[in-house]
Amino acid sequence: MDANSAKKAAAQAALKYLSPGEVLGVGTGSTVNFFIDALAAHRDDIPGAVSSSEASSARLKAIGIAVLDANAAGPLSLYVDGADESDHGLHLIKGGGAALTREKIIAEAARTFVCIADESKLVRVLGRFPLPVEVIPMARSMVARELVKLGGEPVWREGVVTDNGGWILDIHGLAITDPVALEAHINQIPGVVTVGLFARRKADILILGGANGVRTLTP
Ligand code: 5RP
Repeated sequence: MDANSAKKAAAQAALKYLSPGEVLGVGTGSTVNFFIDALAAHRDDIPGAVSSSEASSARLKAIGIAVLDANAAGPLSLYVDGADESDHGLHLIKGGGAALTREKIIAEAARTFVCIADESKLVRVLGRFPLPVEVIPMARSMVARELVKLGGEPVWREGVVTDNGGWILDIHGLAITDPVALEAHINQIPGVVTVGLFARRKADILILGGANGVRTLTP
């Protein structure tokens, strides 16, 4: 099974967590794009969605699903999103698509966070994928100096501006053995908007597509 087929299988398997008549949260990325495609057949059961990016909003609207303001929608029963890495405890690295801040807001608002991915995203220790950090532009150099002190090598994702007007630093070379502590530490640095570690609020369910079909992990 190639990576796209694996992502598609995971996306399809997430449909069973939909609650007809309830607004859901929808993330960002190629795996989520397969999920949005699959939602088209269920659009009459979906009163609306809160989306983590302008890109996903456009795709949702194109299939006839209303995109709602997060403030108006209130608590959500379900959030479906992809990940760049997950460990076996379902702590995630996210933000490869630069949508980490809105993703974290929606994950926090959701009762159940279902993460969909292909098998290659499951790792023993997080950090092979560079850890994204969204920063206020004027803080970029200062935050980068602080991140070096953590033993990582921050690289500015030059040219990328998030939907919130922020910039992204990707931290290379970390082996993240305590994701909850690292998330809290990085979030304390002034100028950091969000770190793409989803550890305090991790996924509740991880659906992985792979050569042997789909499997579901819980922490
Ligand atoms: C976007 C994300 C995505 O969920 C992550 O990058 C995974 O993307 P893909 O499904 O394309 O592999 O965090 O900010």
